Amino acid sequence: MTVNLVIGTQWGDEGKGKVVDYFSKDADYVVRYQGGSNAGHTIKVGEEVYKLHLIPSGVIQGKTGVIGNGVVLDPEMLIKEIDELKKRGIKLKLLIGDRTNIIMPYHKILDGAEEKYLGDKKIGTTKRGIGPCYSDKVARKGIRAIDLIDTNTLSKKLDDIIPIKQRILDVYNIDKKLNKKEILDTYSKYGEKIKKYITTTHIELNKAVKNNKNIILEGAQGTMLDVDYGTYPFTTSSHTIAGGSSIGTGIGPKHIDDIIGIVKAYTTRVGEGPLPTELFDKNGKYLQQKGHEFGTTTSRPRRCGWLDLVVVNHSCMISGITKLAITKLDVLDGLSTVKICTHYSLDGKKIDFFPADIEDVKQCKPVYKEFKGWRKIKESSSGFSDLPEEAQKYLKFIEKKLEVPIAIVSIGPGRKETIEV
Ligand code: IMP
Repeated sequence: MTVNLVIGTQWGDEGKGKVVDYFSKDADYVVRYQGGSNAGHTIKVGEEVYKLHLIPSGVIQGKTGVIGNGVVLDPEMLIKEIDELKKRGIKLKLLIGDRTNIIMPYHKILDGAEEKYLGDKKIGTTKRGIGPCYSDKVARKGIRAIDLIDTNTLSKKLDDIIPIKQRILDVYNIDKKLNKKEILDTYSKYGEKIKKYITTTHIELNKAVKNNKNIILEGAQGTMLDVDYGTYPFTTSSHTIAGGSSIGTGIGPKHIDDIIGIVKAYTTRVGEGPLPTELFDKNGKYLQQKGHEFGTTTSRPRRCGWLDLVVVNHSCMISGITKLAITKLDVLDGLSTVKICTHYSLDGKKIDFFPADIEDVKQCKPVYKEFKGWRKIKESSSGFSDLPEEAQKYLKFIEKKLEVPIAIVSIGPGRKETIEV
């Protein structure tokens, strides 16, 4: 039995989908536990490309996908994904936590309204209603999956919530009247459609642990978007770090065997907020074009920069990462020089930790170690020693600096383009 956790160590989009898919071959369950349809996971199987926002990517391999209680679930989006996967011949095995909070229409409207109100101080959210839904959950005003299958409860809850939301919309000058009957009808229908999947996933998962099943916990976003340990307030609203997986699944921390940190060989970020190693030159453009760095969820171009080990070290420490998976190493092919940030310089002092104050982060100047680049990684590379010598040096430096072993290196989007170290 193993419970493996896969998390992003940067600002999301590290290539978790591919790594989860890779590890899923021996899994019985693949579990999402935080975030919602703000995430976007791309999995390439042969010539088929799957883009999923909510359903755990392991379902493509016939595994049981679980949407844990820590997720915020948009049922409209979920039903679209279910229909699409079924159309493409996937036999779907899916369980949804009964305590999962539901994204309601007013959450999406408010996400847009708050961003508009913030103007040039906006977070750059995906506008999927994530923040407003998590806010309601913590304020104990959420609608949960279990409520969707009981029209009476849903109706009573909406009676309490809608007048408050209407007043907030009015404050934001949003000309939209929330229609309780329409919302109740639509969400009751969603409930009808998904009720067969709604269950006590925390009990199912703990039974699976007892029965020696293999479980993969699939993180969304990355450490630097964690609401406590990320670049607050330019973060998402959930716990993207390892600790979040126990909260969001109901599996106790002692059952987790390996915590696999996904490290993209360079850095990207979508949305606003500081990015110390951001490149504004031709190298930044090169990484963006070669790495196809455009958001899966919003299609926004991702900001690109050199690998930042201050960030990854912060992630390794906070999440107790036991293994690393390096992704998109091939994107660095063809550069004459590649750089890794090892420290920051702040007010003339060298620091090796990530500051809490966003104004300090903005002042941090990266201190780099330069590496000679390499021409091209052979697609047929199957072992570490097949990699160009310069790429090996780059990877060994990362491993040594972080004091965490590299388990796999991804050199392309396909399943086969993966090297076990
Ligand atoms: P929200 O999660 O939609 O509230 O967005 C908050 C911040 O997190 C924004 O900067 C988004 O661009 C970023 N974000 C949310 N989900 C992802 C993701 O899956 N990958 C990368 N960035 C994300």
